[in-house]
Amino acid sequence: MLMVSNVNFLKKEPNVTLIQVQCRAWDYLRAGASDGRAPFTVMQAATIGRSSAPSVRNVILRYVYEAEHVIDFYTDVRSEKAAEIRADPRIALVGYDPEGMVQLRLEGVASVLTEGTDKKRAWDASRLRSLVLYRTPVPPGTSIDRPDDAYPAQSDGHDINLAGYQNFCIVRVSLKTLEVLDLSVPAAHKRARYSRTGNEWEGQWIVP
Ligand SMILES: Cc1cc2nc3c(=O)[nH]c(=O)nc-3n(C[C@H](O)[C@H](O)[C@H](O)COP(=O)(O)O)c2cc1C
Repeated sequence: MLMVSNVNFLKKEPNVTLIQVQCRAWDYLRAGASDGRAPFTVMQAATIGRSSAPSVRNVILRYVYEAEHVIDFYTDVRSEKAAEIRADPRIALVGYDPEGMVQLRLEGVASVLTEGTDKKRAWDASRLRSLVLYRTPVPPGTSIDRPDDAYPAQSDGHDINLAGYQNFCIVRVSLKTLEVLDLSVPAAHKRARYSRTGNEWEGQWIVP
């Protein structure tokens, strides 16, 4: 598991620079996407519901590509969130590290990847107990009589390694903003916001 070396990083470095904070934010995200649990392994992802109401749920951070400014999570292509993203790709994510007292907020544009080598690699690297969720014969969110009705009674005769593959997708978020809020020092909270244009990130301290 990739560890973020010093949890209260802003507390320990009162003169920390915007660049340092940005680097630590990416460290946090990378640690979240590495094997094992870390503060930002689970983040809350908000989309715009199809009735224009906000819609939010937990997701597991799966991949972070800092050079390309993207993060991935996985979902079922039949899910409500996938439909919402296809209708309006704007997305926001938030997470909080209660030990370090750091909040990360991300905004970007999401796309639903239903094929390609990244999807195959992600599928192959996933644990069976995660993949079993994609084998449900009825779409997520469908009303059922009993919880067991969500799962197939037995193998449907397809290659078990690929069963459900067509329902699995990557949600890839191209990040546009990144915001760090550090609450670790009482009465000296720090908040920094970074906005991306092309490959350039511009940072700014803002009032917490
Ligand atoms: C800790 C945790 C992690 C979760 N991770 C994911 C995830 O990575 N992908 C996903 O589709 N759903 C995940 N879920 C379930 C979602 O929060 C949500 O209930 C489900 O995907 C249906 O959401 P939707 O109706 O907005 O599509 C997770 C739930 C919890 C509690």
